[in-house]
Amino acid sequence: MKAILKICRFNPEVDERPYFQEFIVEVEEQETVLDALFKAWRQDSSLSYRRSCRSAICGSCAVAINGKPSLACHTLIRDVWSEDGRITIEPLPHFRQVKDLVVDLEPFFASLKAAVPWVITRPEHDGRMSFEAARDIEGPATCILCGACDAAMELPGDVRPAALVKGLRLALDPRDALGAARLRIFNLPPEILRLFIKNLPENCPKKVTIPEKILG
Ligand code: SF4
Ligand code: FES
Repeated sequence: MKAILKICRFNPEVDERPYFQEFIVEVEEQETVLDALFKAWRQDSSLSYRRSCRSAICGSCAVAINGKPSLACHTLIRDVWSEDGRITIEPLPHFRQVKDLVVDLEPFFASLKAAVPWVITRPEHDGRMSFEAARDIEGPATCILCGACDAAMELPGDVRPAALVKGLRLALDPRDALGAARLRIFNLPPEILRLFIKNLPENCPKKVTIPEKILG
């Protein structure tokens, strides 16, 4: 079947503003949007987008598909198919567009760095973890840092969702010296945190969940 990919293009060296270009590509319903993007690129190799693993592991192919921040390699054509065969693909909202579907990830990684995204080892801890503690961090530990939640959700102040997910994951880790004190880094009221935890799975292509017990 034929899909019409309506792709947001922008080359800051020649374009004053972004515009949409349509590519007609032959697709199978079980192929992914990333497969379709590759076919568009075969038609015009000036089209820029990111991808690496093609397995929903690296997080680099995050784009907005029909307006929803998604992983292109994890989105089947049949799941975004409409009667007219059009699929709109744009760069992630809330990120600066560098070129076509490529966005500036510097602020994303700066916010992550500010969250101190590693375990600060408690000297007295033997490093072993109970089954229950491991189960608690399993949900947030599946985050692949794709940035889709940053594009889909807004939080007060300059808190960014993916950095918050990392902070919550570490706050649940019994080996971490900061533990629950990490929540103070983000300075968010409990009701905002509760809403964030509730809304995260539907805004995350990996359906990351965070146990509510973190709220105490
Ligand atoms: S929580 Fe989900 S959407 Fe957000 S960065 Fe991690 S994997 Fe991506
Ligand atoms: S290419 Fe790696 S997550 Fe899609």
